[in-house]
Amino acid sequence: MRRFIDLADFSREQILDLLELAQALQHHPEPRALAGKVLGLAFFNPSLRTLASFQAGMARLGGSSFVITPGQGTWLLETQPNAIMKGAAAEHIREGIPVLASYCDALGVRAFADGKSLESDLNESLFRMIDGLCEKPLINMESAMNHPCQALADWRTLDEMKIPTRAKFVLSWAYHPKALPLAVPAATVHMAAMRGMEVVVLRPEGYALPEQVMEKARLAAREAGGSVTETSDRAAALNGASVVYAKEWGSTAYYGDVEADSRLRADLSDWCVRERWFERARPDAKLMHCLPVRRNVAVADGILDGPRAVVKQEAFNRLPVQMAVLHRMLA
Ligand code: CP
Repeated sequence: MRRFIDLADFSREQILDLLELAQALQHHPEPRALAGKVLGLAFFNPSLRTLASFQAGMARLGGSSFVITPGQGTWLLETQPNAIMKGAAAEHIREGIPVLASYCDALGVRAFADGKSLESDLNESLFRMIDGLCEKPLINMESAMNHPCQALADWRTLDEMKIPTRAKFVLSWAYHPKALPLAVPAATVHMAAMRGMEVVVLRPEGYALPEQVMEKARLAAREAGGSVTETSDRAAALNGASVVYAKEWGSTAYYGDVEADSRLRADLSDWCVRERWFERARPDAKLMHCLPVRRNVAVADGILDGPRAVVKQEAFNRLPVQMAVLHRMLA
């Protein structure tokens, strides 16, 4: 494997193989599998889980890693093509990425959406540029429109919870004081569709996912025998749901317009997931969230601290699934 950028680049069989390997590595550790290998990790945006789990996973497989956080102890890296570099950035990724890649056997990069142009972010303009600059195996640690590591961990979590493949999976918009990127909702709707689930995207008006994201998920659903629909009717969406996956994201109607998005979300603070949301869901319905989550803003304490929440399991699963990716890439 030379690239882990999008689950859509893999067949269902290849995803199931990675999940099987994750399971095997958990029960039968291979502490020398990646001896002598080096993983480079470049974080253009903050992280807790992704940073720690990749470093831990590489160490558990016998390899080592280095972390670069551009602008924090290292040169700030310019990402705009054809930039006239009179600002804070001392170096361009056109030099920075190939140089970093030359020091390691695989490179992981986190580079969030620019958040200004929906078209540019949907086209993954920045990550495509990074892809073209990196001659070593490359891992997407969250790009403008994707978070495949989180999606793979979430698939494993659904399997662990024995959530049937055809169960109802509700990806629900949740409140946040400001617009957040579309990477996780886009990756999640595709993952659940690829797993074959009955996927419902629940969101207020103005927060529909881009058509390109929905069409990609519908295609995956057709191939897997599932379905993907969307609604703003919470009661209908949650009726019979086995999973509510809460996620905050920005308005696609006002993408890049911070003030318009703020006005739109001003009246939406009741989109904080609470127990009453689950009245018509299955009694054992689960609550998922990729974390970090703002308590009592996006999800209430009572849910996060109760039996429905599997958010920590999702985070724990980042480690074994990423170890499987590293193993397939470098062993
Ligand atoms: N879910 C996730 O990617 O967490 P971090 O942003 O902390 O890495």
